[in-house]
Amino acid sequence: MLSSVIDGKDAGPGTTFESRNPADLADLVARVELADAVTVREACAAARRAQREWAKVPAPVRGQVVGAFGRLVAANKDALARLVTREIGKPLAEALGEVQEIIDTCEFFLGEGRRLYGHTVPSEMPDKQLFTYRVPVGVAMVITAGNFPVAVPSWYLAPALLCGNAVVWKPAEYAAATARALCDLAWHAGVPAGVLNLVFADGETTYAGLDAALTGRLVDKVGFTGSTAVGRRIGELCGRHVQTPCLELGGKNPMVLAPDADLNLAVEAALFSGYGTAGQRCTSLGTVIAHADVHDEFVRRFADAVRIAPVGDPTADVVFGPLLDEKFARGFENTLGWVGDHHTVLGSSAVGRITAEAPRQGFVGDPATGLYYHPVLLDGVRPGDKVFTEETFGPIVGVTTYRTLDEAIELANAPGYGLSAAVYTNDPGTAFRFRQGISAGMVSVNNSTSGAEAHLPFGGNGKSGNGSRQSGVWVLDQFTRWQSMNWDFSGSLQKAQMDVATIESDPAFRLRV
Ligand code: UN1
Repeated sequence: MLSSVIDGKDAGPGTTFESRNPADLADLVARVELADAVTVREACAAARRAQREWAKVPAPVRGQVVGAFGRLVAANKDALARLVTREIGKPLAEALGEVQEIIDTCEFFLGEGRRLYGHTVPSEMPDKQLFTYRVPVGVAMVITAGNFPVAVPSWYLAPALLCGNAVVWKPAEYAAATARALCDLAWHAGVPAGVLNLVFADGETTYAGLDAALTGRLVDKVGFTGSTAVGRRIGELCGRHVQTPCLELGGKNPMVLAPDADLNLAVEAALFSGYGTAGQRCTSLGTVIAHADVHDEFVRRFADAVRIAPVGDPTADVVFGPLLDEKFARGFENTLGWVGDHHTVLGSSAVGRITAEAPRQGFVGDPATGLYYHPVLLDGVRPGDKVFTEETFGPIVGVTTYRTLDEAIELANAPGYGLSAAVYTNDPGTAFRFRQGISAGMVSVNNSTSGAEAHLPFGGNGKSGNGSRQSGVWVLDQFTRWQSMNWDFSGSLQKAQMDVATIESDPAFRLRV
């Protein structure tokens, strides 16, 4: 039985949730005790109690802890990746990549412990010094989805802890065992118990507990990765408490194929970003926007690639395995209802669940054991289609066409998300015009929409987020606040703006040449 861990102690019993292996539903990965709202608030109170002492630890020493965390993750890379695969069904190769993303993140923030720079700034008056400092925000409540059950949480945990904050982490309940494993590694790396608290709770309870914690001034920053719908509610709640959360939400990520696109490269990228992680990344490809001149050839090659792509057992070498859990399988079935008569359905022998009656050729393993779905490639998608405007979160990719670059950019921006966007071209003018016009926070040229590196700013605009950015130095603005200090050693009160020396100029002067 897994329960929440507050200040190093197991919280009491709660409602039981079963986390199952989506590739083999008979495999119970963990029984999880879901906490009530009072317990969620208590976790925030415990973090509040621990934070002050943690903030007093010098940043380079906190950096050492983050570094030790990364090294411990590296030493347990295989075991952690296998647990990711078992609990959420991500193919092992991708799970290993996900764990590597934690190691990369910790490596980056280990060094940041010796920087975390402030500034010295010249004063407008003599004998006065100005400084800026980064100060920790305090307690961060981090709420994450289970599609990246360890990498995305590490994007919050590593910088938050490095900057001197205490954390309450509420992972997805269907990824609870993986979350507990990551916390065990952090605690064994030296993160003090109360500085990292783990809470298992359902969405509504988390919301109620967070509301109470914000009211009690126990939380200073919320980090949320998940759906746009929930992000809106969290944003509203934080707004009421005069806080700006870090929101990393959904995406409807376009891939534009210019007339000069390398189509084989584009097919490879569309396969990876459209169907990798079973299309359940926030950066997954949504719609391919192909120039009319290359559309038919691209669709022919892409349909062939999807048809023969190995699907099945995620411990084997497959493009994708099962959906994350039952909730996501139901969500994807709902999405499949958006397929209309004007669409051409390609990519597999059937649509929906892969079964003995609706088999997929070349399936790896036994489809009856898990939440396996046929990949769907939809040609003939139109801008008014729901499948064009909404995030789909499953193995489905749409294709539509355009004639001018302006039209392509308009189509790419139309759904109102703005996370990741790709363009395939070798023409610099096309690439730079696309970058200028696209509303996405992340742009790829001749690369897929998914697979961002761990030290570039990660985040979106519009329905994809409120402009907050994770990763690299940019996330420091989420987990620290600037404090300025001025120190006057002149021995008199020098009034800013009023007691400032002026040097006369001669504005009427003109050159006589
Ligand atoms: C997510 O789906 O929430 O860029 C994150 C990528 C990964 C992270 C995805 N590095 O696809």
